[in-house]
Amino acid sequence: MDFHDRVALITGGSSGIGLAVARLLAARGAHVWLVARDVARLQVALSELQAAGAPTQQHGIIACDVADPEQAAAAVQQVTAAVGLPDIIVNSAGIVLPGYVEKLDLTAFRRQIEVNYLGAVHVIQAALSGLIRRGSGHIVNVCSAAGFIGMFGYAAYAGSKFALRGYSDVLRAELKPAGVHVAIVFPPDTDTPQLAYDKQTRPVEIDRIIGKWVKVQTPEAVARAILEGMERKRYIITPGLDTTLFYWLIGALGPLQYPIMDYLVARARRGRA
Ligand SMILES: NC(=O)c1ccc[n+]([C@@H]2O[C@H](COP(=O)([O-])OP(=O)(O)OC[C@H]3O[C@@H](n4cnc5c(N)ncnc54)[C@H](OP(=O)(O)O)[C@@H]3O)[C@@H](O)[C@H]2O)c1
Repeated sequence: MDFHDRVALITGGSSGIGLAVARLLAARGAHVWLVARDVARLQVALSELQAAGAPTQQHGIIACDVADPEQAAAAVQQVTAAVGLPDIIVNSAGIVLPGYVEKLDLTAFRRQIEVNYLGAVHVIQAALSGLIRRGSGHIVNVCSAAGFIGMFGYAAYAGSKFALRGYSDVLRAELKPAGVHVAIVFPPDTDTPQLAYDKQTRPVEIDRIIGKWVKVQTPEAVARAILEGMERKRYIITPGLDTTLFYWLIGALGPLQYPIMDYLVARARRGRA
C-alpha cells in the first residue's frame, strides 16, 4: 500500500500508539490529521510532524471528544473539507479503568464503552457512506488483548474492547465487497501514558501475571506492525511474535482458557507470578 498523498485521520493521535502511527504515516508522505481532546498536546504533536515533513504535506489537528457523536462527525467533516475524505482512519483513542469488578462504578463501564467502542463507531459511521461511495479506504481499530481474553481486573475495559471486536468483525465482512478494508489491532502492553496509569491501578493478581508473561513493547514497534499489517491487508494485526502466539493459543485453548486463568490467578494471590 502506498501511503504517499493519502489522507489519514488518527484518533488518539496526540499520544502513544496513535502518535507513533502518525509519525510513520507522515514519514511515508501521508497528510495526517490528529484527533484528541487536549489542544496543547495536539499542537506539540502537529509541530513535530510539520517540522519533519515536506512542505506539500497538509497535516492538521482537531480537538474533539470522540465519545460525542456530533463532535466525531464534525471532525470527519472538517478533515474532508480541508484535504478530502480520509483514505485511512485509525481509531486509537482509548482509556483504561481497571479494578476489581465490585469496585468499578457504573461511570467506568459507561465511559469506556463511550470512548473505546462508541468513539470508533462515531468516527466510522460519519465517514462510512463516503467511503462506500468512493469504493476505497482503510479502517484500523486499535483493540487490546482484553478484546479476546477476559482478563482478571478489566471487566469494564474488556466489555468495551470485546464490543469493538464484534463491531469490527461485522464491519470487515460488510465493507469488503465495497472495497473498504478493515483491520483490528491487538497490542500487548505498550509503553505509553495509558500503560503507566494502568499499572498503577490494576489489581495485583493481573499485574503479577502480566509482569511474568507479557513483554512490554514500544509504541514505535506497535506502529510498525500496524503499517505492515495494513500493507499486507491483514484483518488481525498482532504486534510481535509473543502477541501472535498468545492470540492463537487463546483461540486453540477454547474453554480450557478459563481453568488456566483461575490457576494463574490463584498462584498470583499466593504471591507467585
Ligand atoms: N498502552 C497499552 O499497553 C495498550 C495495550 C492494548 C491496547 N491499547 C489501546 O491502544 C489505544 C491507544 O492507547 P495508548 O496506550 O496509545 O494511550 P495514550 O498514550 O494514553 O493515548 C490515548 C490517546 O487517546 C486520546 N483520547 C482519550 N480519550 C479520548 C476521547 N474521549 N476523545 C478523543 N481522544 C481521546 C488521548 O488524548 P486526550 O486525552 O487529549 O483526548 C490520547 O491522544 C487505546 O485504544 C488503548 O486501549 C493500549
